[in-house]
Amino acid sequence: MIIAGSASQNLGAKVAKLLNKKFAAIDTWKFPDGERYTRIKDSIPNEVIIIQSTNYPQDENLMELLFLISNAKDLGASKITVVNPYMGYARQEKRFKEGESISAKTIAQLIQNAGATKFITINIHEESVLDFFDIESMNLSAMEPIANYISGIIEDEPVIIAPDKGAFPFAEEIAKILDCTCTYLSKVRLAPDKVETCIVDLRCDLSKEELEKHTNIDSVKGKEAIIIDDIIATGGTIVNAIAILKEQGAKNVNVCCVHPILVKGATIRIYASGCKNIASCDTISSDTSLISVAETIANALK
Ligand code: R5P
Repeated sequence: MIIAGSASQNLGAKVAKLLNKKFAAIDTWKFPDGERYTRIKDSIPNEVIIIQSTNYPQDENLMELLFLISNAKDLGASKITVVNPYMGYARQEKRFKEGESISAKTIAQLIQNAGATKFITINIHEESVLDFFDIESMNLSAMEPIANYISGIIEDEPVIIAPDKGAFPFAEEIAKILDCTCTYLSKVRLAPDKVETCIVDLRCDLSKEELEKHTNIDSVKGKEAIIIDDIIATGGTIVNAIAILKEQGAKNVNVCCVHPILVKGATIRIYASGCKNIASCDTISSDTSLISVAETIANALK
């Protein structure tokens, strides 16, 4: 049985359909004082899969997830796989400043202590977060559905651009699937909503052999540039990258990401900076969620 929380109802229904499993009916709402109510209306089998992203409102979605897990356990499930397509708080996996909470660790402990027996997420921002779980955990990649989407909208050979070095493995993964070139830009974050981006000289970081597999930023000229990142939050990273790619003569700049957090008018800022098309996955429901990770999840659950 698949049980989906309110943040992942559409995705949960798609996964249930692909796996030909029962999609549980649930009731969930907020009491007038802000507390959360959940009810699973179907009887619980021994094995359940609970799907819920913990994007905004993070704390409410998280409480709902915890209630669903512990309720399923109380009602008799002994095998509870939690699919948390977008894991909120995963960006605080360590103490960057003295005295800070290691939020990701607390969240992992809460999910596990509520009764999860297996944890699955997608392109988690910091993979080391999975070490906070004692139960089996998996980090799936959405790059295959993203690559399929790109090949459906772009006719010319694209060049895949990571807007910072951290996103380069995503660009490499997509470039490998599409058999095209990829590169990355260099980014420095000055404040939570202020980033500075510049062209990186790949020769500094890659061996000659590796370099030959990739492209230099100069070769975006006249090309369909596709920026790939795991998360778009304020859009600052992407807006800077678009400016550089346009300056370098890219024919068009398209943007793809896994998790569309999209705060502070990010979508409008990105389009206003000259982006042709923004597409994201449905790990978080948004107007840009044109790429589904349902099959990726379903395959992992088979
Ligand atoms: C950071 O390393 C992430 O991969 C994203 O680049 C970042 O979260 C995007 O944030 P923003 O859209 O606010 O620039």
